[in-house]
Amino acid sequence: MDLLTYCKRLPKIELHAHLTGSLSDETVLKLLNSKLKCVHVNLPKSAEVTIRRGHRRTLEECFQIFGILHYLIDNLETVKNITRDVIQEFASDNVKYLELRTTPKSVPNKMTKKDYIETVLEAILQEMKTNCITVRLLLSIDRSRGIDDAWNTLQLAKEYKTHEIYKNLICGLDVSGNPACGNLTNYIPVLEEAKKCGLKLAIHLAEIPNEAETLAVLRTGLVDRIGHGTFIHPSSGGSQELLYYVQHYHLPLELCLSSNVKCGTVKNIEDHHLAHWRKENHPVIICTDDKGVFSTSLSEEFHLCAEAFNLSQNELNELCITAVEATFQSQHEKQKLAQLIQNELKSCTAIN
Ligand code: IMP
Ligand code: ZN
Repeated sequence: MDLLTYCKRLPKIELHAHLTGSLSDETVLKLLNSKLKCVHVNLPKSAEVTIRRGHRRTLEECFQIFGILHYLIDNLETVKNITRDVIQEFASDNVKYLELRTTPKSVPNKMTKKDYIETVLEAILQEMKTNCITVRLLLSIDRSRGIDDAWNTLQLAKEYKTHEIYKNLICGLDVSGNPACGNLTNYIPVLEEAKKCGLKLAIHLAEIPNEAETLAVLRTGLVDRIGHGTFIHPSSGGSQELLYYVQHYHLPLELCLSSNVKCGTVKNIEDHHLAHWRKENHPVIICTDDKGVFSTSLSEEFHLCAEAFNLSQNELNELCITAVEATFQSQHEKQKLAQLIQNELKSCTAIN
C-alpha cells in the first residue's frame, strides 16, 4: 500500500478546523453560482478563494479570503449546507472524531448569532446520524472583533452548553482571528470566566512572533491546547521560558503544516516546528486549519508530515492515538474513542 493510501485509511482525529475555511472548491462553487443568480457583482472564481499546491499568500491575504467567504455565507440555508458538506468531507477522509470551530455570525434581517449557532448544531446532529463520525463544536472568539464581542461569544457558549438538545455538542472556546490585530492579554478575563463555566480553551498562540503576549497567556494556566505555537520553541524563534510553560502544563499543540507554509510563517515543511516538538517527545496533533482555503485534507497533511520527517507507519499510528487524549471529551468518552481508533488501526495494519 502506498503512503498516501495508508494515510487515507488511518482512523483520524481532527482538532483544529475552522468551518468557513474548510469549504471545498465544490462548496464554494455552489455558493458562487447561487449568489450570481441573486446579485450582479464581480465575484471571485472559486480558484481565487483557495490556495493551490505550491502557491502562497501572506497572512493578510488569507484574512481577505475569509472576508469573501463570509460575504457568501449570509443565510441559514447556506449555513446548514456548508456545515453538512464539511462534515461529510471529513467523514469521507476517514476522520472519526472532529472538533469544528466557528465564529458566531449575524446578518441583519436574515440571521442572528443564535440562529447561526443552532443551524450549525442541527446540521451536526443530522450528519452524525448518517456518517460514522463524532462531531463537537467550539465557538470562536475573533481577536480582531474586540472584548465585548468575546463576552458575547462566551455568553452564547454557556447558553448552548446547558441547552436541552445541544448540550453535549459544545465543548469549548477557540481564540483565533488575525494575529496582528488586538492583544490577547485583554481577553484573559473572558478566558478565566470560560474556564469557571467548564469550557475548554484552544487558543491560537504565537502564530507570529509575540513573546510578551504568548507568555502572559501561558502563565495564566488557562490554556488547554495551543493552535500553531509557531514561535514558541527556542529553535523556531521562541524562548526557553515559553518552552518551560508549554512543557510544564503539558499543552498539546495543534499543528497545521500546509497552513503555516502557505501563509509564509514557516519557510518549508522540512523547517516546520513539528520536528522540535517531536524531539522533546511533546504531544502534537496534525490538523488542517482551513482545508478548503489551503487545498488540503487531513490525510494529505499526514502524508506531508510522513514524507518530510520520514515517519514510519507505526509513528503515524501513534499520532492518531496521541490525538485522543487531547480531545475535549470526558475520560469515559476518550476511552471509547481510543478503543475505536485502536480497532481501526488493527484492521488498517492487517490490510497492509
Ligand atoms: P469561521 O469562524 O467558521 O468563519 O472560520 C473562519 C475564521 O477562522 C477566520 O475569519 C478567522 O477568524 C479564523 N481563522 C481561520 N484560520 C485562521 C488562522 O490560521 N489563524 C487565525 N485565525 C484563523
Ligand atoms: Zn486556525
